[in-house]
Amino acid sequence: MKQLLFAVTLTAIVIFSACSEKTIPSKTVMENPLPAPPPVVKSTFQGTLLPMIQAKCSPCHTPSKNGNKANFENFDNVVRNTNPILIRIQKNPGDRGFMPQRNSKLTNDELAVFMKWVNDGSLEK
Ligand code: HEC
Repeated sequence: MKQLLFAVTLTAIVIFSACSEKTIPSKTVMENPLPAPPPVVKSTFQGTLLPMIQAKCSPCHTPSKNGNKANFENFDNVVRNTNPILIRIQKNPGDRGFMPQRNSKLTNDELAVFMKWVNDGSLEK
């Protein structure tokens, strides 16, 4: 009887440890975690778009440089004008309504700054 009890216990231990080994992640996985994803940096009006506007839409749209066209240093105004802005900066010099007027077309990187700001949700800051 004692031997049977011993045999049953031993079997239980063997089965148990066999099962639990499968559920515990292997050591290699735990020692080599995936690299952390890069932090998601969202574009904001204050942080990224306004400097671009002040560089590329100045002086005409920047009252701080005495511009008297639509005020694009003003966040709400830029949000309201998002569509016309995106349409005009994608036109080519010579097209009717092309912006920045009397300047060369924005580079793809500069255009991307406008697009990313919109895609990130048109945040103010
Ligand atoms: C040299 C001056 C000048 C520069 C630089 C300039 N604009 Fe303009 N912009 C104008 C003038 C003048 C108008 C009004 C005439 C018109 O609508 O085409 C105007 C109008 C606009 C309008 C229409 C606004 C409205 O009230 O309907 C948008 C949108 C615009 N510009 C976007 C831009 C953007 C974006 C930039 C910079 C990437 C830029 N502009 C740079 C002179 C300029």
